[in-house]
Amino acid sequence: MVNKASRPTDSMIGRDNWNIQLDCNGKLKHFLTIEGLSTELLISILDTAESFANINAKSVKKVPLLRGKTIANLFFEASTRTRNTFELAAKRLSADVLNVNISASATSKGETLMDTLHNLQAMQCDMFVVRHNASGATHYIANRVAPGISVINAGDGSHAHPTQAMLDMFTIRRNKGDNFGQLRVAIVGDVLHSRVARSQIHALNILNTGNIRVIAPRTLTPIGIEDMGVEVFHDFDEGIRDADVIIMLRLQKERMQGALLPSEQEYYQMYGLSRERLRLAKPDAIVMHPGPINRGVEIESSVADGPQSVILDQVTNGISVRMAVMSMVLGREPETDKGEKS
Ligand code: NCD
Repeated sequence: MVNKASRPTDSMIGRDNWNIQLDCNGKLKHFLTIEGLSTELLISILDTAESFANINAKSVKKVPLLRGKTIANLFFEASTRTRNTFELAAKRLSADVLNVNISASATSKGETLMDTLHNLQAMQCDMFVVRHNASGATHYIANRVAPGISVINAGDGSHAHPTQAMLDMFTIRRNKGDNFGQLRVAIVGDVLHSRVARSQIHALNILNTGNIRVIAPRTLTPIGIEDMGVEVFHDFDEGIRDADVIIMLRLQKERMQGALLPSEQEYYQMYGLSRERLRLAKPDAIVMHPGPINRGVEIESSVADGPQSVILDQVTNGISVRMAVMSMVLGREPETDKGEKS
């Protein structure tokens, strides 16, 4: 198991980067990154999501918590799961949702990002859900929006994707229980370009996961990743041994400059999750992937569709987790079992 002393500290992860997301009472105002959040806060997101999962299992999947609030989805990068589950989550909370069509908006006529946002502010939006290809874009926006507006990061460059990490933690907890200390979690593939992996590693650390493994080719392993309290492997068969959770990542070619890779066939031979390889993990290991999956590149179809795969559960869980984050950020939480008031 990894030495807990090697876990990141506030000074290593740069306090300035994240503290704008908390108000003076330590409550979430924006949700930009997992870095620096407390174990209690992450657990309360998971618990709140659990109460929304109960609502999502009913025939009428709607609560009035965000009635009268307006949420704008601004996706400057492609998205299927994240954009649609944010929209569904907002609608199930009874908010009004604006899906800003960036390619058909004035951005394509040269309007700046901040001018677009100021116009949406003038339409009295309460929250911006933003995906952008530039790392740091959502911090930039959160630092500049009007005081009453919250910003949620739906993925910024290769930096962070905090709601994805939380839906992944939710999926792990539902399948493996809440003792993360007993778990060995392997994250496999293009870690270098993955905002998902970075956010997952922060979340797994904060939840005190026993052993976090990163398995990647040398060219796709971020320099200094060991300082985040992970064990690094370049040999998949060695790294996957006895894993409880295997998280596969897509090769993010859109973020690659230059030849970082052999051919896709060679990559699959070395880093693809096949049925054979899966046998090296624990027999009850779960297989996860944030999507989109590339069948035959990082994962064999029969594994992606097989009994150990929870890939589509991750998508379903994304709705409950995004409902939790949006309701917490806007200060309208559901009543929980502990009898807390909304
Ligand atoms: C990921 C993303 O966009 O960062 N997907 C997602 O949000 N579900 C991962 C990827 O694009 O490979």
